[in-house]
Amino acid sequence: MVFLCALCGEKPLFSCAILSLMAQTPEKTFYIETFGCQMNVHDSEKVIGTLLAQGYRQVESVQEAGLILYNTCSIRDKAEQKVFHRLADFKKMAEQGKKFGVLGCVAQQEGEKIFERAPHVSMVCGSASYRNLPEMLVRIEAGKQRVTGLDDRETDECFETEFTSRSNPYRGYITIIEGCDKFCAFCVVPYTRGKERSRTSASVLEETRRMADAGYTEIQLLGQNVNSYRDPSGRKSFAELLAAVGEVAGIRRVRFTTSHPRDFGRDIVQAIEAVPALCDQVHLPVQSGSTRVLGLMQRLYTREQYLERIAWMKAARRPISISTDIIVGFPGENQEDFQQTLSLLDEVGYDSVFSFKYSPRPNTPALKFIDHIPDQEKSRRLTVLQERQKQIQSGRNQKQVGEVLEVMVEGRNPARAQWIGRTSQNKVLNFTAGGGDELAAGNYVKVRVTQAFPNSLVGELAADGGQQGVSHFLNSQSQEIAF
Ligand code: 5AD
Ligand code: SF4
Repeated sequence: MVFLCALCGEKPLFSCAILSLMAQTPEKTFYIETFGCQMNVHDSEKVIGTLLAQGYRQVESVQEAGLILYNTCSIRDKAEQKVFHRLADFKKMAEQGKKFGVLGCVAQQEGEKIFERAPHVSMVCGSASYRNLPEMLVRIEAGKQRVTGLDDRETDECFETEFTSRSNPYRGYITIIEGCDKFCAFCVVPYTRGKERSRTSASVLEETRRMADAGYTEIQLLGQNVNSYRDPSGRKSFAELLAAVGEVAGIRRVRFTTSHPRDFGRDIVQAIEAVPALCDQVHLPVQSGSTRVLGLMQRLYTREQYLERIAWMKAARRPISISTDIIVGFPGENQEDFQQTLSLLDEVGYDSVFSFKYSPRPNTPALKFIDHIPDQEKSRRLTVLQERQKQIQSGRNQKQVGEVLEVMVEGRNPARAQWIGRTSQNKVLNFTAGGGDELAAGNYVKVRVTQAFPNSLVGELAADGGQQGVSHFLNSQSQEIAF
């Protein structure tokens, strides 16, 4: 029997041009490692989609890959050191013909200097240049030694692609704004991600609808500063876009990050009150509780103005959980300033705090201030702050014992025989569910809180009204269980 090629109908290996071409072309494989924030994680999803569309296959180890990519972060110094260590670890592999690429913030910050420090690197590309990745890949494949994408920080274009490889089938990111024009004194982002540019609301809503059709129920809108969103078509403000995303059929949860207090309007709180799909959660980085330090940081608001925004959220008809970012040991921060940050923790009563020791960053305005606070003192302030916040979180979570909360199921912890859920307020709620056989990741269920820890809640599947099992499928991948 003679087999014919399914693509061209000719006899394989003799006259089929397609198969013989495929036989000559080695398979293109890539490995990618991502450091840093959610923006980077989502950028990588788009980079992966772009590579797959170019005929590459993703592999799980450096050893298996022909192209090794590091999507890097430079927000604090340890982040960039990790990348250089990784590059050094695998240097020898360049001799086997493997190619290395550095993407993201370290790529943009260090630029062509990376080729000097790590000569085995062939590609250096900042996030503002990802649109050009397809042609950069072609140049690498053609054997070009040093390919760069570093000159697009002034672009008005966003990295929009139909090829996005999302790893979670229920919850997905959508970038609405790239870059940042705020130039906070400590922050490297405006220099690495370039100037602020927004996508049209029509494009964001179209992506939301496509994701809802594919079974996503939770959307996380991303940007360095989502409240500065300016619809290029002039149709929607950020709050209006938020509401519109929350009204797309099939979408049950919408979150957004990161917000800047200066641009955080009351209309955002009103949107949360009005649209059920918007989550009871706002991340509003304060950085310091001292108006004097906020001035040095060039944050463009005072402690009082920040607290005004907190008051809007506390007065809302929904229980909005509030989280923040804080930097300790910024140049000039004295003991009194630090005490004001501690008192702000008490006054706001945050549900979670991400806290960091100040680290000087290249190109930033704060470099001209003397970083006079010894590392030991920064560490001490960080510990004091984290201890205080731990107490606050314990108290806040304790108050939720007895509440029945809806969670999205994220997975199962077999060792503890618990399901892992996440509440609208973005709290982890681990729970037991009897047999629980009918549960799966992506389900929404009601859980009664029975115990509280500083960083998580514990509960059991709520039995109020009697378990009725799976009530209906919202779509192919997400289902709701009603009680
Ligand atoms: N040093 C310490 N923390 C920083 N952050 C940003 N830049 C620095 C820096 N140079 C923190 C801020 C920001 C978060 C993402 O990282 O708190 O909100
Ligand atoms: Fe950095 Fe400030 Fe822009 Fe946030 S708003 S990315 S902290 S410069």
